[in-house]
Amino acid sequence: MQVPTGGIAHEPKGTNRWNSDADSKVWMEEASLKKLWMPWIPGLFLFLRGFCMDGKEKYMALALSLAERGRGWTSPNPMVGAVIVKDGRIIGEGWHEKYGEKHAERNALDSATESVEGATMYVTLEPCSHYGKQPPCTDAIIEARLKKVVVGSGDPNPLVNGRGFEILKNHGIEVEYGVLEGECKALNKHFFHYITNKKPYVSLKYAMTVDGKSATEEGVSKWITGEEARRDAHFLRHSHMAIMVGINTVRLDDPVLTCHDPALRDPVRIVVDSNLDIPLSSKLVESAREVPLLIATVSNDEEKRGKLESSGCKVLSIPSSGGKVDVVRLTGEIGKMGIDSILVEGGGTLSWSFVENGLVDHVYAYIAPTLLGGRNALTPLMGKGFPSPDDGLFLENTSIKALGRDYLLEGDVKCSQG
Ligand SMILES: NC(=O)c1ccc[n+]([C@@H]2O[C@H](COP(=O)([O-])OP(=O)(O)OC[C@H]3O[C@@H](n4cnc5c(N)ncnc54)[C@H](OP(=O)(O)O)[C@@H]3O)[C@@H](O)[C@H]2O)c1
Repeated sequence: MQVPTGGIAHEPKGTNRWNSDADSKVWMEEASLKKLWMPWIPGLFLFLRGFCMDGKEKYMALALSLAERGRGWTSPNPMVGAVIVKDGRIIGEGWHEKYGEKHAERNALDSATESVEGATMYVTLEPCSHYGKQPPCTDAIIEARLKKVVVGSGDPNPLVNGRGFEILKNHGIEVEYGVLEGECKALNKHFFHYITNKKPYVSLKYAMTVDGKSATEEGVSKWITGEEARRDAHFLRHSHMAIMVGINTVRLDDPVLTCHDPALRDPVRIVVDSNLDIPLSSKLVESAREVPLLIATVSNDEEKRGKLESSGCKVLSIPSSGGKVDVVRLTGEIGKMGIDSILVEGGGTLSWSFVENGLVDHVYAYIAPTLLGGRNALTPLMGKGFPSPDDGLFLENTSIKALGRDYLLEGDVKCSQG
């Protein structure tokens, strides 16, 4: 299932660079799938949940847990899992492992331990029906002479969108749709949002104390949360195609914004920097040849641009909004590059711009059981704020989990506020 963009492509480790075309390609750092362990946790949960379900749901839960193994590796394509069942026995399993590689359906068919003729396939997403980087999965299913395909959710990609179902039915294959549909859609919320809105899914992430501070009055934020929460946040980086910070965070923290784990995929790093002030000696610029770094600016300073480009950075000119980078236009440009998701990691000034402009889809708030105080200590959102509590941004589908001594509270931004 290919996303129809001319954008980003993932190439082998060590070939990490930008070209200067409008259709920019990013060569991403990638590492062995075998070392991944974090994606197996939600997968395991789904698998265990399967014990309370009927047969169809059980197989779909297994397919979902397989799909989870692709998290972070398949974007901007969806995560997909597939299970083949014959006479009540599972005879094949597969998932979409990596962008550009075989789809889940073909991997499941290839893994089959016996003839799949007459078997049923459980697959989390509608099988694709068009040529992208891979041939259509509908062809593989038809050739394999499966009897039935049970699908979790439809594929809103205009190149598929019901055609996969039609083709299968026209070849006499029974199709059932909507088993664990909610779970299957939730699995691919970045993909669904991107393909439907043509804009990246934006997650806002921050760490704060219980008294709502994200740094001390002196601007020190290392470290508000403990190791377990930070490791979880590094996996969030892996799960998004891009990470973004404001220039003050670079000045004060000198972050590197990678996953700090060679088994995870580093996101494209984006710094919002109106005047191209990012120091050439910053860790971000110094590592720009290994992990893509994009500087979004309103500056026309050719000398600064030249120095940054010679250091391996890509400089992206964005129209100004009040002298600053227009974050709405920036988000649109990032989407055109084939980037389906952005993790905005602060600081509070940049985060407020995203909130104020209605760009945030999801919030991850890491909360440390610490009191920091300080009238002028920074908070996760700066800016002018909303005028009354009724005007605030509301979250829905909220959940909270413990991470060592800290907590992660997350939720979707309610679409229609108020
Ligand atoms: N606890 C946490 O989770 C966390 C995370 C990140 C940062 N922090 C802390 O936050 C502090 C920095 O936060 P901050 O609020 O001072 O700065 P920031 O959000 O990191 O950067 C803000 C700067 O970005 C530039 N910018 C360009 N266009 C913008 C736009 N449309 N909207 C907003 N900013 C735009 C502006 O500088 P120019 O005009 O020069 O371009 C602006 O002053 C640091 O102390 C850091 O340690 C904490």
